[in-house]
Amino acid sequence: MMNRGIYVVGALMCMMNCVGSAQPLFVLGDSSVDCGENTLFYPIFHHNLSLLPCNGSDSSLLPHLLAEKMGLPNIPPFYSQNRSMQVFFSGLNYGSAQATIMNPSGQIHQSLNQQLRQVFETMQLLQLQLGEEIADYFINSSIFYLSFGKDDYIDLFLHNSSGVMVKYTGQEFAGILVNQMVHAMRNLYDANVRKMICIGILPLGCTPRVMWEWHNSAGVDDGRVCVEEINELVLEYNTMLDEHIVELNSELPDVQIIFCDVYQGIIKMITNPTYYGFEDAKSACCGIGSFGARIGCLSVEMACEQASAHVWWDLYNPTLTVNSLLADSAWSGQPLYGMCRPFPIQDLLHTSIS
Ligand SMILES: *[C@@H]1O[C@H](CO)[C@@H](O)[C@H](O)[C@H]1NC(C)=O
Ligand SMILES: *[C@@H]1O[C@H](CO)[C@@H](O)[C@H](O)[C@H]1NC(C)=O
Ligand SMILES: *[C@@H]1O[C@H](CO)[C@@H](O)[C@H](O)[C@H]1NC(C)=O
Ligand SMILES: *[C@@H]1O[C@H](CO)[C@@H](O)[C@H](O)[C@H]1NC(C)=O
Ligand SMILES: *[C@@H]1O[C@H](CO)[C@@H](O)[C@H](O)[C@H]1NC(C)=O
Repeated sequence: MMNRGIYVVGALMCMMNCVGSAQPLFVLGDSSVDCGENTLFYPIFHHNLSLLPCNGSDSSLLPHLLAEKMGLPNIPPFYSQNRSMQVFFSGLNYGSAQATIMNPSGQIHQSLNQQLRQVFETMQLLQLQLGEEIADYFINSSIFYLSFGKDDYIDLFLHNSSGVMVKYTGQEFAGILVNQMVHAMRNLYDANVRKMICIGILPLGCTPRVMWEWHNSAGVDDGRVCVEEINELVLEYNTMLDEHIVELNSELPDVQIIFCDVYQGIIKMITNPTYYGFEDAKSACCGIGSFGARIGCLSVEMACEQASAHVWWDLYNPTLTVNSLLADSAWSGQPLYGMCRPFPIQDLLHTSIS
């Protein structure tokens, strides 16, 4: 009873304050949202991975930086949740490094569907604790953040797991992934979610690991900064996702879904690095071998001296400096204008949906 009392008081405070100020943020995704804290499998499979996508700090990724702008404390990971009111009221992070949109064939990493199941568990708990009406209100004023896809391209497509490359063309593969994402957004909508942020895939073809692999297989340094062939695959996904979000926004009553095009944001930094204050747009700050990409970041001591001069932190993840530029742009529309559509994220907080 005591607990329920606390929840109700908290929820009522939220009903008065959530619109316009700190709205809870629920985060789903891969290593673009998780520093490796939220997975049961991670330490075993670290050889080719971004072991430390976060520079030893748990607040350097895009959703962390956005939460800060939203006036929220750090969003705790789902696996650490202790079901206290505090935790629920700022939101939860279900994200897990290496999570894919497709269901994995083995138990080596998480998927979108597994994270969705955890979301629905949380919602059931909220309904039990708060009663249906307050829980509905809490959910429909919360923001859900989805950031997936990179690891589907890395694991399944680039490494041709299960012969996926013979089965699908790039466009078919993008279509399958986007359908899953749309399905997830519809499921969230059916569970009363009304505010969502969906992040596109970064320019994977420009990441140190992909450059390294390209280099190894081509056997020559052709002076490239990006593998266009890979970027084109990612662009098909981003474009299709963007279009579907436009459709969902016009089809579903009262929904507000923002698409953030981090691909275009990072490409601007890579094509004009000095303008944005970078000296190196090609090599990872933390890693070994050419492009810092033969072996990924295993400890922060391996890192270069000035991470902020690099676009890339490790094999597949940008530095805090890049994430900060993305966060500013996603939030306010500056300095990278129009990165989030149809409006910047701060407007999602200030618009009322009822
Ligand atoms: C790392 O990647 C290489 C080539 O992509 C592969 O041969 C190797 O099995 C991978 N190692 C692990 C531990 O996944
Ligand atoms: C639950 O987590 C919150 C936030 O991390 C913390 O402040 C609180 O002390 C924890 N409560 C218990 C009972 O562990
Ligand atoms: C949010 O939920 C509350 C409580 O059920 C409801 O009164 C309100 O109309 C809902 N708003 C939207 C936009 O669905
Ligand atoms: C992908 O895997 C399939 C079956 O394992 C194989 O036949 C095909 O040649 C591979 N494609 C590439 C481009 O490696
Ligand atoms: C890691 O981040 C902290 C602050 O977030 C910064 O002071 C430090 O220089 C960073 N280290 C590296 C190697 O990037």
